[in-house]
Amino acid sequence: MATLEIKDLHVSVEGKEIIKGVSIEVNKNEVHALMGPNGSGKSTLSFALAGHPKYTVTRGSATFKGEDLLTMPPDERARAGLFLAFQYPAAVPGVTVGNFLRTAVNAKRAGGAPVKALTGKDAEIAGKNGSQISAREFLKVLKENMKNLGLKEDFAFRYLNDGFSGGEKKRVEILQMAVLKPEIAILDETDSGLDIDAMKTVSDGVNRMVGPAMGALVITHYQRLLNYIRPQVVHVMMDGRIVTSGGPDFALELEAKGYDWIRQKYGVASSAAA
Ligand SMILES: Nc1ncnc2c1ncn2[C@@H]1O[C@H](COP(=O)(O)OP(=O)(O)OP(=O)(O)O)[C@@H](O)[C@H]1O
Ligand SMILES: [Mg+2]
Repeated sequence: MATLEIKDLHVSVEGKEIIKGVSIEVNKNEVHALMGPNGSGKSTLSFALAGHPKYTVTRGSATFKGEDLLTMPPDERARAGLFLAFQYPAAVPGVTVGNFLRTAVNAKRAGGAPVKALTGKDAEIAGKNGSQISAREFLKVLKENMKNLGLKEDFAFRYLNDGFSGGEKKRVEILQMAVLKPEIAILDETDSGLDIDAMKTVSDGVNRMVGPAMGALVITHYQRLLNYIRPQVVHVMMDGRIVTSGGPDFALELEAKGYDWIRQKYGVASSAAA
């Protein structure tokens, strides 16, 4: 059984069917790339899997480690080990990156119980008991991961995504992944807006984690990212369906030839928005 197993999934947003029967399986140790034209449903699929309340699953199934993902509330999906890096991360003024991430890590560890804000000695004791991560331990983990991702330490004290550049937001998404240690990560256009060096740094961050503990579904428009994060499979989504899939070099072919030939070959209307 695959870690993430999606079968014939149909998803509607505000009464309109966007995902029209998607089946895909992603395991740990695997990287799947999901490509496809704008508006084809890639982000909709990720939101539906993460449990966004606006996205209604009308048909099909999705299981995570054999459990029904679709009946779990979003926080339970995250605790189970599913992670989504947003295409457009939201700013949360008033909440620092450090506090946000520590609360997220503790919420995952608490397994659904309310997270108590521990300080000073209490935090140290809780850390030793292995329940909540202590402030000191967390700072160590955070600093190490920030260094790996080329983020200056003062980011920990800035409000989440507030005034961050496009590339900084994407790095912070990967920082979040690094501290939460998911089993399946969905990365929605994490490469968009990254400069050439950042693309390499962020890819290294992802590659460090892909392995026996994690698999990834990488949504991207550009073949270049896949030079750094090598997928086993490249899927093409059009009009809410995965119309075809290929090996790692399929992305090169897509870059060279575009999508029109696939539309013609598989009889997909020229614009999903039409
Ligand atoms: N909340 C919503 N209300 C109305 N339409 C929506 C909503 N969310 C998504 N859609 C529509 O669903 C379609 C798929 O959108 P989605 O964001 O999933 O595409 P995408 O493949 O991620 O595109 P891109 O490559 O541009 O990010 C689009 O036509 C979009 O306008
Ligand atoms: Mg999208």
